[in-house]
Amino acid sequence: MKFIIQGKKPLKGEIKVSGSKNAALKIFPVALLTREPIRVSNVPEIEDVLRAQEILIALGHEVKKIKNGVLEIRFRNQKGFDLPADLVNKFRASIMFVGPMLINLGKVSFPHPGGCVIGAGIRPIDLFLDAFKKMGAKVKIKDNHYELTAKKLKGANIFFSKISVTATESLMTTTCLVQGETILKNCAMEPEIVSLAEYLNGCGAKISGAGTPTIKIKGVKRLRGGKYKIIPDRIEAGTFAMLAAGSANVEVLIKNCDPAHLEALWQIFDKVGVNYVLSKDSIRILPSKKLLSCDITTHEYPGFATDLQSPYTVLMTQAHGSSLIHETIYDRRLLFADILTQMGANIILADPHRVVVNGPTKLYGRKLVSPDLRAGVALVMAALLAHGRTEIDNIYQIDRGYEKLDERLRGLGADIKRLA
Ligand code: UD1
Repeated sequence: MKFIIQGKKPLKGEIKVSGSKNAALKIFPVALLTREPIRVSNVPEIEDVLRAQEILIALGHEVKKIKNGVLEIRFRNQKGFDLPADLVNKFRASIMFVGPMLINLGKVSFPHPGGCVIGAGIRPIDLFLDAFKKMGAKVKIKDNHYELTAKKLKGANIFFSKISVTATESLMTTTCLVQGETILKNCAMEPEIVSLAEYLNGCGAKISGAGTPTIKIKGVKRLRGGKYKIIPDRIEAGTFAMLAAGSANVEVLIKNCDPAHLEALWQIFDKVGVNYVLSKDSIRILPSKKLLSCDITTHEYPGFATDLQSPYTVLMTQAHGSSLIHETIYDRRLLFADILTQMGANIILADPHRVVVNGPTKLYGRKLVSPDLRAGVALVMAALLAHGRTEIDNIYQIDRGYEKLDERLRGLGADIKRLA
């Protein structure tokens, strides 16, 4: 499937932000840890979330659609020790199922999880494996396939050598039912982690410190079910804000979001000269006088999110001056800048972690292929800002994380079509 985009249309109107992909993906494995149903609302209809549901079903559990955006998930029968390879290959957060399977069955086997190719080689899972080993699990690795066994996991003192969002969430979730106390140090602090911890505590877990670098979990015997409302997707909100900020003829209201999760972006917007107004749950973008270049360095939350780096790089092609974009989290995430150069951007790749964008430059429509999720959405943004027609192939990558992006952008007046 592809998107066909005719650029330079005025963007006017309202756009709603969906539930957070990165929060949604972490709730499905929790169904394995309680025997009561979990009712999840504000669920985004995106490919990765569908794959997470398919894993639950393949493992023998139940996913019931109550209405649009509301699902009830429930533990039924645990079928076998294997996580389905064809689904695990599709997204990295599938690794969240590993801990709960190990708790329930004492054994789990799975291939190396998939996801965006944005690191040098495959994205490692050493932090997860080291932590499970510390809790007493045995790990066998053969041909990129993993088998973990543990009669019983035990609470441990775990220091993450790198800050990792999913490793923090995986260990925090699993250890809710692990005997003793677990202390996780050098944790990630993303709002999705805080939201998950609040939910688990509501189900009877004893987690303290989520949202700080040290999280303590006291194991409990059982967890209840309950209602979980997925928080708004801050990456989507930030991406829409940058798309609107880059457009000359614009008046866009981004609704159903939480601007408090994007402080690093607002600080940069002030320097760039973006004309924006925030409320508690919306962002209004108005025409800016002149956009100015500004350097960024990506950083773990609350710093500038790596997932917002690609749309920011596009925004800087429209700003006056030179901006240095320093990507510190992933090795290959800036390589998409080469595609922007093909569209007319003036970007110098200093090294795999740094590019210099010289602006402003006109962008021109081209035939492109979406390399991954976040770069894919940045290309949609570039195409909307470009003169002429752009064709973007491999949009499965974009559908993995953005619900009906074409439909919602058409609501703002964008000329974007989906071709099978
Ligand atoms: C999550 C987000 C993703 C975001 C990323 C960083 C989800 C589903 N995805 O991904 O959108 O881009 O956080 O904010 O929540 N690392 C290791 N060993 C490990 C695990 C990670 O070296 O075992 C490294 C990674 O290669 C990377 C860094 O740690 O360089 C951060 O990755 P991590 O926070 O784990 O990213 P994800 O949780 O996969």
